[in-house]
Amino acid sequence: SSASKEGYTHFMLKEIHESPIAVKDTISGFLNDMETVKEVAEEIRRANRIIVIAAGTSYHAGLYFSLLLNRKGYTAIPLIASEYYNIKLSKNDIVLAISQSGETLDVKMGIKKFKEEGAKIVSLTNVIESHIARESNYKLYMRAGPEIGVAATKTFTSQLASLLFLYSVIERESVDYLEKAHEVVRNVITETEGLAKKFGEELAKKSNIYYLGRGLGVPLAMEGALKIKEIAYIHAEAYPAGESKHGPIALVEKGFPVVFINYGELDDELEKNLQEMKARFAITYSISVNKKLNFSDFEILVNADERLSALAIAPIIQMIAYYAAVKRGYDPDKPRNLAKTVTVE
Ligand code: G6P
Repeated sequence: SSASKEGYTHFMLKEIHESPIAVKDTISGFLNDMETVKEVAEEIRRANRIIVIAAGTSYHAGLYFSLLLNRKGYTAIPLIASEYYNIKLSKNDIVLAISQSGETLDVKMGIKKFKEEGAKIVSLTNVIESHIARESNYKLYMRAGPEIGVAATKTFTSQLASLLFLYSVIERESVDYLEKAHEVVRNVITETEGLAKKFGEELAKKSNIYYLGRGLGVPLAMEGALKIKEIAYIHAEAYPAGESKHGPIALVEKGFPVVFINYGELDDELEKNLQEMKARFAITYSISVNKKLNFSDFEILVNADERLSALAIAPIIQMIAYYAAVKRGYDPDKPRNLAKTVTVE
């Protein structure tokens, strides 16, 4: 392949650094394709339910979008693609399939079933005329460019940007704030890479980690845990922070690392959960947007338009995982047992 690392040690790090341009191109693409976006928005407004089907990292983007919609009174059902058989389609449901590659078998099987039952399919992929795009009634595209690293990075951030765009159009809000999105992503990477490396190198010494968040921070906590699990081979679990006292806290003892994703909402509640962890002598790390979480042992704080919090957090959790993997001596571009695109059941 002609792909080159252009001076970066790994594709993954290069691709994280390409996130600003990926987001910028994605937003321009959506602006150019406003007609399709508006049609999709109208379909979603009219739908009975929105079934959001995806796998892996794309599922986390889908979960984030589902939370945004559900908060506005829509009924979105985030569905892990391989579990497609759990949902019986009802009249006027619409399906949104999210897949970077557009080729993931589990997602293909899900849309096949829902199509047979009569649903309209909307796809969001990164590959023009990918299988999933071809199978759909409405094709939306991120324009993140090719991603070589197995673990999704810039494409996740571009999915979030795409879904925020779609959400704003559904809500008939201006999308102007998204024109600054790539700058937020660029600033976050520049300002936090050093600290993210420090977090990653500290976490590299651990064998278990919790990632906790609340509200819109939950899908990002899930992605943070997935990322470090995938490439640094550290067992990591994500939970809605309030739920952590119903089980997970049993494992917490002196030195147990807990990463808090402080999205910029529900921070008082999150702070109580942090205190509970500290009372068990956990080591707490927090990633906060706009307002720091008090009493955290280690803190990464960024400032951003609150509507762009997800785009600010995504590159940070990716850099943490990257530096943890490198510190442990692994090649983050080629994690064992994983494939970029999974075409088997
Ligand atoms: C694989 C990759 C993940 C990816 C998932 C879904 O498991 O290793 O990084 O998130 O597939 O891929 P898709 O192309 O459908 O987004």
